[in-house]
Amino acid sequence: MRINHLHLSSFRNYDQLTLDVGPRLNIFVGDNAQGKTNLLEAIQILASTHSFRSARDADIIQLCQNGQVSEMTRFEKVAVISAEVEREDAGTVLMEVRISSLGKKNLQVNGARRSRLSDYLGHLTAVCFNSFDLDIIAGEPQDRRRFLNLEISQLNPIYNHYLLRYRRALEQRNRLLHDMAEYGSGDNGLDAWTDQIVEYGAHLFERRDLFVKEISPLAQTIHSELTNGEEKLDIRYLCSALQNGTAQPTDRPEMDWGQAFRSDLERVASDELRRGMTLSGPQRDDLSILINGSEARVFASQGQQRTAALSLKMAEFEVAMGRLGENPVLLLDDVLSDLDPQRQRILLEKTNGFGQTFLSTTTIKGFPETLLEQSNIYEVKGGAVTQNAK
Ligand SMILES: Nc1ncnc2c1ncn2[C@@H]1O[C@H](COP(=O)(O)OP(=O)(O)OP(=O)(O)O)[C@@H](O)[C@H]1O
Ligand SMILES: [Mg+2]
Repeated sequence: MRINHLHLSSFRNYDQLTLDVGPRLNIFVGDNAQGKTNLLEAIQILASTHSFRSARDADIIQLCQNGQVSEMTRFEKVAVISAEVEREDAGTVLMEVRISSLGKKNLQVNGARRSRLSDYLGHLTAVCFNSFDLDIIAGEPQDRRRFLNLEISQLNPIYNHYLLRYRRALEQRNRLLHDMAEYGSGDNGLDAWTDQIVEYGAHLFERRDLFVKEISPLAQTIHSELTNGEEKLDIRYLCSALQNGTAQPTDRPEMDWGQAFRSDLERVASDELRRGMTLSGPQRDDLSILINGSEARVFASQGQQRTAALSLKMAEFEVAMGRLGENPVLLLDDVLSDLDPQRQRILLEKTNGFGQTFLSTTTIKGFPETLLEQSNIYEVKGGAVTQNAK
């Protein structure tokens, strides 16, 4: 799939922008704070309806006009992102996201409003790499669980359904355990909540295990390519229900996840009553990411961590491509910093096989000539974009 034209209005530091983009590598060059990341963010919002960097939707509405910050104008404004998207077999569709200052989102496909998210999603898939993805490697377990949740939901929307149900049941079970520990209240329906978390949790464990199994060999191959065979990346799923000295999920093709979870809950039952909270389950999962056998979070250099995060994202791209039967759009925000010239060159050469890619950078110095010849290069300055004549 590919984007043909992109249009922005009152979006971040863009007042109005209409841009024709190329089918392969599109490079956005500019100094800091000019609007490169904003542009990639717009495409990501169009694909997923969510921003990778703002919790509040209204933050994306243009704040300044003529250099003046005016909350008033901001409240009257609506940010619009729209694009013509071309699919291999399905022709073109016009996608549009409008966000008003109250954070209200209006989603449209070919001019028709889609009130259900599931009716909007699926026309444009974007795999995005940005600075927050470093947290998958360097951050806390919750960052890695967030990665799992986001990526698996994108590939299997049913996952999100189980996740929401699991969280609701977990909250109730935790409340009950808390009251039992704190006030000595009776176990009013604990078994029923246990049944629910086991049912939904088993789905989450299973999907996470499958996802890691699918993505880890791909990421390993890509990481090896990016490092010229010098580094071996291993990704392991640390399933909280199997942490009690039992085998890792990869050793168990015919795993009964519900049974495993239930036995682990039995193991921790008395601790749960004492501490007043659920002590096993997907909310305690993690990933172990190793480079040449050492935990990357603790031992890897910044460049190694960035390379590993990139390998994971590119593996995700390949998985998405397999599911879609065509290339998703790839967004690479500032990927080159922290990488040495050799890793930069290998990565850039690899992007050639990726279909439509949007890459932001502060300089194109050192980019291979042949790659530049096949790319569209745009200069981004103060919320304006100009295409460089070739
Ligand atoms: N809602 C908004 N309204 C107006 N301007 C905004 C809004 N949100 C962010 N900006 C501004 O957009 C500018 C460009 O941000 P962006 O992150 O795209 O820069 P960049 O070109 O990627 O820079 P860098 O090279 O530092 O990553 C920033 O100066 C930021 O203050
Ligand atoms: Mg940026």
